[in-house]
Amino acid sequence: MLTRDRLKSFVLRKGRITANQKQAIETLWDQYVLSTKEDINKFLLNRSSVLDIGFGAGETTTYLAKNMPESSVLGAEVYLAGIGSTLSKSNEEGLNNIKILNSDIVPFLEETISDDSFDLVLMFYPDPWPKRKHHKRRLFQPDFLNLIHSKLKKNGIFYFKTDWSHYYQESSKILLDDKNWLIQDESELTPVLKEIPITSFERKALKAQRDLKKIILKKIS
Ligand SMILES: C[S@@+](CC[C@H](N)C(=O)[O-])C[C@H]1O[C@@H](n2cnc3c(N)ncnc32)[C@H](O)[C@@H]1O
Repeated sequence: MLTRDRLKSFVLRKGRITANQKQAIETLWDQYVLSTKEDINKFLLNRSSVLDIGFGAGETTTYLAKNMPESSVLGAEVYLAGIGSTLSKSNEEGLNNIKILNSDIVPFLEETISDDSFDLVLMFYPDPWPKRKHHKRRLFQPDFLNLIHSKLKKNGIFYFKTDWSHYYQESSKILLDDKNWLIQDESELTPVLKEIPITSFERKALKAQRDLKKIILKKIS
């Protein structure tokens, strides 16, 4: 089983939280943060559904909620400051189709979320764990990919981005033997997905002259 054997893909640090993030956490938590199986599956049921894994400051998650008003958008993040920013932005923009999980996504997917739940799963710039001895902490691994596959509906899309060329190469290798997916070109995406705005993380990566790579997969079987 993935959870028991697996090293965590993050290290929780006590990061700095701004006054605005703190206030959002104190006042908006109950409105947006889900934790029970019943509430999560109710939010996803009978709707087009999106999952954003490791949403950071939530720029992409809130963009999708705003631009896909008919969809339920669920974001997962372990980093409290990022959750604070996302709560604040969701409230400012009056978004009512976004919910948040403050959790490691892996056990949540395994134990709480029903199969065939999502039309779209995004995982943009997961921690790259560059040292060889840490590669096992990377999220994009065969077992994880199978887990995502089971939670996507047929023809659902898994959209992965990385700014780490070794991570990209290793992830592409995993896909060589996998017949469950069809690799998609960006031109095949909907306009909303093609136009996802650049995030502050991407801006920093570009400034550091790192290559931004993407893998877009469609679940075909
Ligand atoms: C480098 S940031 C990318 C943020 C954002 N996706 C973006 O494109 O700007 C990666 C984020 O993934 C989160 N993360 C790492 N492992 C996670 C996990 N297992 N479950 C949920 N979030 C995770 C980290 O806390 C971090 O904020």
